[in-house]
Amino acid sequence: MRKSNLGTAIILSVLLSVFVTSAYAVGSLRGEYDLDKESKTFEKKKQIKNKGFDRNYTLQPPLIPHSIEKDKVTLKGNTCMKCHSAKNFQKEKAPKAGDSHYLDRDGKVLSKISSRRYFCMQCHVPQLDAQPLVDNNF
Ligand code: HEC
Ligand code: HEC
Repeated sequence: MRKSNLGTAIILSVLLSVFVTSAYAVGSLRGEYDLDKESKTFEKKKQIKNKGFDRNYTLQPPLIPHSIEKDKVTLKGNTCMKCHSAKNFQKEKAPKAGDSHYLDRDGKVLSKISSRRYFCMQCHVPQLDAQPLVDNNF
């Protein structure tokens, strides 16, 4: 009796692991190219530039509607803040980085951009008309 229970358990777990690995098998984004071979080059897409994108939900970081090719975010400086800082936004006719960008983790108001919001492109990204590389249902 005990032995057959153990046998069933082993068979079930083998079946389960086969099912799980086949359901979640992920292909490489490189496709079937060997690591030492060049992979396929994709055509370059044009960035969509306009006066702003609608947001899909309230706290979505808004998409970047302008070119950022010349912008740099480094240890020495952040060129986004030339236009989006509380000091410069009016002069540059740019939207001010949200108030949430000037809070530390305890909710204290800071005079400079919070280090938690320093790397703008962690959350804000430009937009292209491209299909996602990986399906997602979000
Ligand atoms: C030369 C000034 C300038 C610089 C530099 C700049 N921006 Fe902007 N940004 C603007 C202006 C002006 C707008 C308003 C839309 C427009 O006119 O393009 C804007 C819009 C945005 C928006 C959309 C806001 C919304 O509510 O829809 C985001 C996000 C943004 N910028 C992020 C960035 C980031 C990140 C950088 C650095 C990589 C950057 N910007 C650099 C001027 C600038
Ligand atoms: C951790 C994610 C995150 C980072 C990093 C970040 N932002 Fe944002 N940003 C958001 C979110 C979320 C919103 C929308 C809600 C809000 O205003 O807080 C937003 C809103 C904005 C807006 C629109 C404000 C408005 O009132 O419409 C601008 C402009 C902006 N961010 C610029 C920047 C710039 C410039 C940087 C870099 C210095 C930056 N953000 C870094 C998440 C981020």
